[in-house]
Amino acid sequence: DVPVAEAAAKPAKTVPDAQTVTAVKHWTDRLFSFRVTRPASLRFRSGEFVMIGLPGDNGRPILRAYSIASPAWDDELEFYSIKVPDGPLTSKLQNIQVGDEIILRPKPVGTLVLDALLPGKRLWFLATGTGLAPFASLMREPESYERFEQVIMMHTCRTADELTYGRDLVENLKHDPLLGEIYGEDFAKRLLYYPTTTREDSPLMGRITDNLTSGKVFTDLNLPPMDPATDRAMICGSLAFNTDVKAVLEGFGLREGANSEPKEFVVEKAFVGDGI
Ligand code: FAD
Ligand code: A2P
Repeated sequence: DVPVAEAAAKPAKTVPDAQTVTAVKHWTDRLFSFRVTRPASLRFRSGEFVMIGLPGDNGRPILRAYSIASPAWDDELEFYSIKVPDGPLTSKLQNIQVGDEIILRPKPVGTLVLDALLPGKRLWFLATGTGLAPFASLMREPESYERFEQVIMMHTCRTADELTYGRDLVENLKHDPLLGEIYGEDFAKRLLYYPTTTREDSPLMGRITDNLTSGKVFTDLNLPPMDPATDRAMICGSLAFNTDVKAVLEGFGLREGANSEPKEFVVEKAFVGDGI
């Protein structure tokens, strides 16, 4: 039995699988991130996703798939979210405040896990928009750097402000004293960041597919072209993006793998588009 004083101090959980919001940050009018408490029993592999949501008006929860953007070692869980103006979940989720509760089903799954890739030298993360989320987890996962000499984050958005969440995360990571301690001053060189825009001028421009096929990214980062002997990749974006990047990687000789059959690259949808 829970002592009366302790029970009184704990707020009653109003919904099953409730977690409490601990932080919210709005990045643009279309993007925000938030952190919630982590269920003590939740174990997941960096890169996986869970179902989260809010109670619906009819009492049934509105649940959607969300990549966990924080690494497996973190005490809390972080999410990076779109705001769809008339979206059943995000039209409400975008209004959450610290102290509010969300629903989190503690059953993590997903293909963007290190175990689904064969050992290699370089690990490429290829994302558009909120497809960055699983890589926000994996970039903060020490195992990424234990398994690979270099991690390369290519992130593309239409405009520069949409890159800010990822840019801040990478900057903080490069100056993380703990990672510096583990990997030495060279850590900053082990995480390469290649952010591009397609509909607004910025220092680096262009679609990920174009920058890979033209070889521009390899020239800019002083890396050899992708090679199935050394390079591994994870893809996360819209269905059209995933399909096109997959074809480019296959052109370099990389093959799609899975948890059950690790190969050279893995793919996951960042969202389910209209009519798909
Ligand atoms: P919905 O009815 O779900 O979507 C309405 C429309 O909005 C969709 O048809 C699509 O055209 C568009 N849309 C939905 N999500 C996005 C998006 N992320 N980016 C651009 N357009 C979108 N969303 C996140 O914001 N962050 C995540 O980490 C995330 N991880 C996901 C992981 C998986 C495996 C899948 C399948 C989806 C993921 N999503 C993620 C999408 C998420 O499940 C919801 O679709 C999103 O939260 C919008 O919910 P909604 O109910 O407001 O609108
Ligand atoms: P572009 O502006 O040239 O369409 P969206 O907001 O439509 O999901 O796109 C997010 C980013 O992904 C944009 O920079 C967009 O470039 C890019 N993108 C969209 N579709 C593809 C694709 N099939 N291949 C490569 N990049 C894509």
